Amino acid sequence: MSAGQVLISRDEIRARTLALAQEVTLALPPGPVHAVVILKSAIFFGVDLIRALGREASLGFLFASSYGDSAESAGAVALSADALGRVTGQNVLLIDDILDTGNTLAAAAETLRALRPASLRTCVLLDKPSRRQVPFEADHVGFPIEDVFVVGYGMDFGGRFRTLPDIRVYRQEKK
Ligand code: XMP
Repeated sequence: MSAGQVLISRDEIRARTLALAQEVTLALPPGPVHAVVILKSAIFFGVDLIRALGREASLGFLFASSYGDSAESAGAVALSADALGRVTGQNVLLIDDILDTGNTLAAAAETLRALRPASLRTCVLLDKPSRRQVPFEADHVGFPIEDVFVVGYGMDFGGRFRTLPDIRVYRQEKK
């Protein structure tokens, strides 16, 4: 088992993240932002994006786990909101690595909206529009990609490949 060819290089990730941060900052209402990162796989992107925002930011986390095998999103999403921080009345930026079927972000956005933020925007690094099962679009997207399973830059397969600096297409070697 190994990670395959580079789909998006570390330089492309860096450049796009800086541009996204500017785009997000312009779209946010003035003042501080409460940035909510979906763990675990959005942690690298979240940190890089938040650091590049020209805003004072408080941090919150949602831990998402979906049931099923690790390369196939299975629909049901369990969200743990223990480290969400203060959402009510705040301008909230919800950050995830990939928008795939839409189940995770739809559930996360619903959880946040129930807490009545002053505003809510969503930002994802990658979007696989062809995979959508629920109607959800992010306000800000880094790269639309085809239906391929990717690893690296925080994204894993069975806990592996998270720390690779580039985003690679995952491939399973034939035995
Ligand atoms: P949904 O389907 O809920 O999925 O929109 C969002 C979450 O599924 C994970 N995901 C992936 N993880 N490579 C990964 O390492 C992929 O290609 C991939 N596609 C979806 C990811 O955690 C994302 O937040």
